[in-house]
Amino acid sequence: PIESRVRDLMGKMTLDEKIYQLMQVAFGKNMTVNNLGGEMDQIPPEIGSLIYVNQDPIVRNALQKRAVEESRLGIPILFANDIIHGFKTIYPISLGQACSWNPEIVKQACTVAAKESRSSGIDWTFSPMVDVARDPRWGRVAEGYGEDPYTNAVFSIASVQGYQGDDLADENSIAACLKHYVGYGASEGGRDYVYTEISKQTLWDTYLPPFEAGVNAGAATIMSGFHDISGVPASANHYTLTAVLKEKWGFNGFVVSDWNSIKQLKSQGVAGSDSEAALKSITAGVDMDMADGLYLGNLAELIKDGSLPIERLDDAVRRVLRLKFQLALFDRPYVVEASEEERYLLAEYLSIAERLAEESSVLLKNEHKTLPISKNVALAIIGPMAKEQESLLGSWSAHGEAEDVISIYEAMKQEFPESKITYAKGCDFEGIDKTGFSEALNVARKVEVVILCLGEKKSWSGENASRSTISLPEIQEDLLLELSKLDKPIVLLLSNGRPLALGAIEPNCQAIVEMWQPGVVGGTPVAGIISGRINPSGKLAMTFPFSTGQIPIYYNMRQQGRPRSGKYQDITNKPLYEFTHGLTYTSFKYGDLKANKDTIQKSEKLVVEIPIANMGDRDGAETAHWFVTDPVSSISRPVKELKYFEKKNIKVGEVTVFRFEIDPMRDLSYVDETGTRILESGEYYISVKNKKLKITVVD
Ligand code: IFM
Repeated sequence: PIESRVRDLMGKMTLDEKIYQLMQVAFGKNMTVNNLGGEMDQIPPEIGSLIYVNQDPIVRNALQKRAVEESRLGIPILFANDIIHGFKTIYPISLGQACSWNPEIVKQACTVAAKESRSSGIDWTFSPMVDVARDPRWGRVAEGYGEDPYTNAVFSIASVQGYQGDDLADENSIAACLKHYVGYGASEGGRDYVYTEISKQTLWDTYLPPFEAGVNAGAATIMSGFHDISGVPASANHYTLTAVLKEKWGFNGFVVSDWNSIKQLKSQGVAGSDSEAALKSITAGVDMDMADGLYLGNLAELIKDGSLPIERLDDAVRRVLRLKFQLALFDRPYVVEASEEERYLLAEYLSIAERLAEESSVLLKNEHKTLPISKNVALAIIGPMAKEQESLLGSWSAHGEAEDVISIYEAMKQEFPESKITYAKGCDFEGIDKTGFSEALNVARKVEVVILCLGEKKSWSGENASRSTISLPEIQEDLLLELSKLDKPIVLLLSNGRPLALGAIEPNCQAIVEMWQPGVVGGTPVAGIISGRINPSGKLAMTFPFSTGQIPIYYNMRQQGRPRSGKYQDITNKPLYEFTHGLTYTSFKYGDLKANKDTIQKSEKLVVEIPIANMGDRDGAETAHWFVTDPVSSISRPVKELKYFEKKNIKVGEVTVFRFEIDPMRDLSYVDETGTRILESGEYYISVKNKKLKITVVD
């Protein structure tokens, strides 16, 4: 019935009405239309979509009423916003979420984000970002799920399912948007908005899989990126947008451009005029124009002069209308006008936020069991992050409010009621003013353990927030180095939006916890880790380099000619903390890795398993990461590739068997530059942690 309703409606539409459906403008918090200028009544009632930065369902309904009652055909508006890691209940940044290795809880968080969004008038989020990212200088690494294609694919599916639920028509579902199609994470040097150099093989091998997984999970929309892909801009790329996405994968949702990415075709040097930019973009497969106004200004003329076939325009309109029907906007254009107390920050939402932040935190170092700390030890909480609220939200924090965030200092006071807790800021996040050092040293002298809270401000990561060096600013490093001279144990708590280069300071602290930007629950999870109430289970989804100069470094680099040479002279060849590194307070022992066969046919499945025992004195959760290595292939393959992971609780003294069913075509093959999977016979290695097993595939 949806297809016939779309057809009927399109049969009644004029060319202008169709073009309006492909236009999106932004309606800001200040109740004005940001990129058209003017007030609410400046918005044409025929407009296809609004970026709705407001959070008031009453205003949304008023805007919708104009569309439904004042436009000739009464087509409802599709309201969109960037709900990236929560709407009001802000969750950890996506990079942190990936470190939980718990897609189920990420799905639940997205379900909550969808509820809070829909009840505030949002039908569509520009999330998830599934750009594989291997350069931590890039500020947007915060928004994705790290360096690995498979990990991004798993969380792509989880978040699409969380946002969209089982049925887009459900009043709590919102449409997802996979972005930024495709390869944006490969931006050269980690700078934003620049070009990428991606071979077709790498495109298929590394950058497309998370998008394909999201499309197969039913993602309603896709956003084309700002960047170019080896010379062809992502928003004018017929190969990726049409040949791959729409034709090969059969995607029947729609593609929206990124803000200005159509206009930018001119500055990218592939279009000489607005009209040419609009033509290139829609011809390549971009269906909706975000904010540029170029479709509105040029498509009618392009149709009239014959440069744009009406079939392409109709296809784009059909895709947009289809989603409006799927979301039941025609049948239920308005949202319930509930109070803020009914919509936001409900106890069950906060408890998901707390669990996700607990599981996202990574214990990077714990020398001599410095952590956990007993409840009556005198503690000094020092550092510019200690009383921060805003920065703990992370970038793209939608309608999250700093005042709702519990600072580390407050959380520590609640967690350690019997301890004497003192505080000193020590220094600002950056700058050269060291006058606060002496107070910090005085405070530290009088306690048994120093909790040093360092990291990055909220604005240091996210869009257009790249850094040329990813170490902490010198002033923060100096504060740590001065404190370390006191010979007291230092527990370093880090909140940041990207992996940091800690090589120079890591030897000077006894324990390190990476808490990322944890969202609204702020310091509570990390305080629980310090006290031992929480047993950490997070593991890194992105490598921590030893120094900035070691970038790019990621676990699945290709095999190289001289594996033991080719090093930098001045640093170790290894990163400081590897992908999947993360400690726990208990002790997991990995048993023997076994397979049900050592030789299989190409069409045969293989079951591999490993027992993991909890030998420590605390219950805990462990994630088994299953890697595959193809030592000899027709093309040089990565040293290893993640193919599966699973996280399970293991009680003290218990042994749990982790299993992975290998499908050779899916897990042992590689992809060529046309996207075709090739499975070669020969030897492969399966590995989990430091256990390795050889298997043979025969024809
Ligand atoms: O969704 C974002 C995108 O990630 C970057 N440019 C603006 C869009 C809409 O706000």
